[in-house]
Amino acid sequence: MNTSDLQTVSIDLAERSYHIAIRGSLFDNPLSYAELPAAHSALIVTNTIVGPLYAERLQRALAGKYPQVHTVVLPDGEAYKTWESLNLIFDALLGHGCDRKTMLFALGGGVVGDMTGFAAASYMRGVPFVQVPTTLLAQVDSSVGGKTAINHPLGKNMIGAFYQPLKVICDLDTLKTLPARELSAGLAEVIKYGPIADMDFLAWLESNMPAALAREPAALAHIVKRSCEIKADVVGQDERESGLRAILNFGHTFGHAIEAGLGYGEWLHGEAVGCGMVMAAHLSQRLGLVDAFFVNRLKTLIQQAGLPVKAPLLAAADNAGRYLELMRLDKKSEAGEIKFVVIAQPGRAAVRSAPDAMVRQVIDACCAG
Ligand code: NAD
Ligand code: GLY
Repeated sequence: MNTSDLQTVSIDLAERSYHIAIRGSLFDNPLSYAELPAAHSALIVTNTIVGPLYAERLQRALAGKYPQVHTVVLPDGEAYKTWESLNLIFDALLGHGCDRKTMLFALGGGVVGDMTGFAAASYMRGVPFVQVPTTLLAQVDSSVGGKTAINHPLGKNMIGAFYQPLKVICDLDTLKTLPARELSAGLAEVIKYGPIADMDFLAWLESNMPAALAREPAALAHIVKRSCEIKADVVGQDERESGLRAILNFGHTFGHAIEAGLGYGEWLHGEAVGCGMVMAAHLSQRLGLVDAFFVNRLKTLIQQAGLPVKAPLLAAADNAGRYLELMRLDKKSEAGEIKFVVIAQPGRAAVRSAPDAMVRQVIDACCAG
């Protein structure tokens, strides 16, 4: 990794603005944290996989700035994005006598990031926090923009808050230890930015997918930077999702139904989003917005990234009915009407509803392969 080439992306949100730093050799460098406000204590939140790999190095990097640096290690995985795990963070904060200035550090993927952000939003009505994302998915999406949440058995990310971090440290070197399946899952959220915002980026990904899968540093640096730029632009215009920001959920309405329908953790979030994008593209085609060439182009790229493109059958006599039932729980639904992010034209997304019969056809076609 060329360490001389620090890239930054700004999230412009008035007094809540912050920077995303992108490079290798960042998370364990004390300089990465130099501009953060001083505090008596810091709490690193991590999990049983990421903690043994990186927590000690982060602890050492923070030790010069914070007299007390504590660590709490959560169980790993989407199935643990729960009240119980959240409470472990509060137990640690209260147990160590942490105050309103205590700085939280989310060291891990999107699950740790979303839970740490929610804990920061609610501990003593709000303490500062920093995102140190260690998965591709978290670096290109979940650590940026301030959405924080835990799951409820009846719906994903249903309980949470908008709460921005003070900084995001995307250390590209941490991606070296990421399992290949997780890298592919992250690429789903990367691919998403093409059809909704930047077809040149989609074309770049078509040419550079082998380099991305091989984790070539220059390819990863471009992917993280361009993804963060697009997300920063959208979040800067619509922080609390009163409209535009919903386009970032392309593929997520179908994807969340897959995750909840199979049981959290069975498919990775990124895998469900990848397949969900294929389904949403098919729906866009049935709505007369895009052609079969576009749908196949997107499907091919998703497949190239190592992601599933055939939707799973959910355990129910009426498979499409079960999908519809789960999708009605989506946060975009209004009065029971499901709202889908569709591609209005390549490079531009829109939110639309669709007749149940049409959605059933899409589900049937996508489950059949
Ligand atoms: P994850 O946090 O579960 O991480 C994936 C796996 O990789 C875990 O087992 C983790 O321990 C492991 N891991 C993390 N970093 C590693 C590393 N460097 N080396 C080896 N293993 C590592 O999953 P994710 O894909 O990062 O995030 C998915 C979550 O993000 C979902 O809960 C989703 O809802 C959420 N999300 C939130 C937003 C948002 O805007 N807040 C956006 C997209 C997704
Ligand atoms: N990942 C969707 C959003 O941040 O809005």
